[in-house]
Amino acid sequence: MSIPAEGDIVDVLRHQHEELKQTMTEVETSTGLARAEAFGRVIALLETHERSEQRVVHPTTRETPGGAEIAEERVAEEEEADEVLAELRELGTDDPDFPARFTVFRESVIEHAQHEEDEEFPVLRATLPADQLLGMADELRAVQART
Ligand SMILES: [Fe+2]
Ligand SMILES: [Fe+2]
Repeated sequence: MSIPAEGDIVDVLRHQHEELKQTMTEVETSTGLARAEAFGRVIALLETHERSEQRVVHPTTRETPGGAEIAEERVAEEEEADEVLAELRELGTDDPDFPARFTVFRESVIEHAQHEEDEEFPVLRATLPADQLLGMADELRAVQART
C-alpha cells in the first residue's frame, strides 16, 4: 500500500481509498492468474488499511463529541468485510461464483470508504487541531511501515 509522504491523516486515507478502488477494479476486469494476483493485492491492502485505521483512527473518532457511534459503525463494517473476504478467499478466484460475489463485496467496501469520507473524516477535521491530524498521519505511516 502506498503512503503519501505529505498530507494529514484524511489526505493519506483518501489516497489509500482510491488505490483500493483501482485494485478492486483490476480484479473485476482481469481473469486467471492476473485476477488471482490482483485479488492478493486487495487482501493485503485491506488488511494494512483497515488494521491501521483501527489502531490510529477509529479510537480517536470515538473520543470526539458524537463520534462514538460513528466509530462503532465503521468497525462493524470492517468486521463484516473481514468475514466476506475470508469467504471469497475460501471460494478462490477461479470459482464461477467469484465474480458476482466479488462485485457485491467491492460495492460494500466502497460504501464503507464513502461512510468514512462523509461521516468520520469531517468530524476529525472539525474537532482536531491541524498538528494532531498531521501527527496521526505520521503514526499511520509508522504502523503501516511495520506491516
Ligand atoms: Fe475503514
Ligand atoms: Fe478507510
